[in-house]
Amino acid sequence: MIVLGIDTSCDDTSLAVLKDRREILSNVVSSQVPLHRLFGGVVPEIASRKHVELVDVVYREAMEQAGLSLSDVDVVAVTQGPGLIGSVLVGLCFAKGLSQASQKPLIGVNHIEAHALSIFLDQEIDFPFLALIVSGGHSVILLFTEPARFSMIGTTRDDAVGEAFDKIAKYLGLGYPGGKVIEDGAKSGRGDSVSFPRPMIDEKNYDFSFSGLKTAFINYVKKNGISDSNRSDILASFQEAACDILAFKTLKAAKDLGIRRIVLGGGVASNGRLREVFFERAETEGISVHVPPSKLCTDNGAMVAVTGHFYASLNRFSPLDIKGYSRMSWKAC
Ligand SMILES: Nc1ncnc2c1ncn2[C@@H]1O[C@H](COP(=O)(O)OP(=O)(O)OP(=O)(O)O)[C@@H](O)[C@H]1O
Ligand SMILES: [Mg+2]
Repeated sequence: MIVLGIDTSCDDTSLAVLKDRREILSNVVSSQVPLHRLFGGVVPEIASRKHVELVDVVYREAMEQAGLSLSDVDVVAVTQGPGLIGSVLVGLCFAKGLSQASQKPLIGVNHIEAHALSIFLDQEIDFPFLALIVSGGHSVILLFTEPARFSMIGTTRDDAVGEAFDKIAKYLGLGYPGGKVIEDGAKSGRGDSVSFPRPMIDEKNYDFSFSGLKTAFINYVKKNGISDSNRSDILASFQEAACDILAFKTLKAAKDLGIRRIVLGGGVASNGRLREVFFERAETEGISVHVPPSKLCTDNGAMVAVTGHFYASLNRFSPLDIKGYSRMSWKAC
């Protein structure tokens, strides 16, 4: 089965061609980061206009790299939400056009489910599993019981963890996006030098809160200052607190629910320290941790294509009049 996957949910225009779940024939990502960097974050209006300019170019590039034409595609899968609505609609309209022109079925995909299923592009794992999706807009724990069936069991009450990385980097004038810059800045630092709070860690639920951690960081810097001599220690301590909270809550959920597999996904899952903390702690609990390569953690069309593949295998196609959504409900699918 050949699936074309389209993602324009935020600031990356990405189209991929996938053959039979694991064979990525192309996965073209056109990033708008340099454009949004000028503003210290994604500007929705600029993002959607840029998608309009790029979507056709990226589609042609993806088809050319795959060595295929539209008539070879069996299914068109596209992000339906959640995301910036103007951005989502560009990909969705483009996908509907391709579907109608080629008479190939359409599948509307949940972008966060796609982040979770991106692991299948790299390795086969058994259901059930927990997926921790940590990105610029989400910090959520999903329980997948079988293909195309999941429920949300924990989420952030305020900022997403990627957002906290981005806001802290912006505050320090380190640029956008902040995750990688902070990880690099923290490399030579000690994660136990500043004791930042771990909000909600003792609460009897699987929810997160990262806005308090961000504020504690900013207050600490205001009070104590930040310079070349303490920068790496402060950044490492922030990163350690974020990783500690994510690992503690996800492992608690896995133990409570008797789940033996954890998948990490979303842009923050490319953080090396987060991976290390999960691997170390999960091993002692006899739980396996599965993380896709970094380029499949951030937004890409291949993760949408693999999700489309699962739904197509279950004959779950979408009508041509599906809508785009900025938010999507987490009720069990
Ligand atoms: N090495 C890293 N360490 C920590 N965070 C990182 C790292 N690399 C990227 N990130 C963060 O990942 C986020 C981008 O991830 P992604 O592309 O999945 O998010 P998004 O698509 O904008 O949001 P969503 O998927 O919720 O719609 C940014 O917040 C960025 O700072
Ligand atoms: Mg994303």
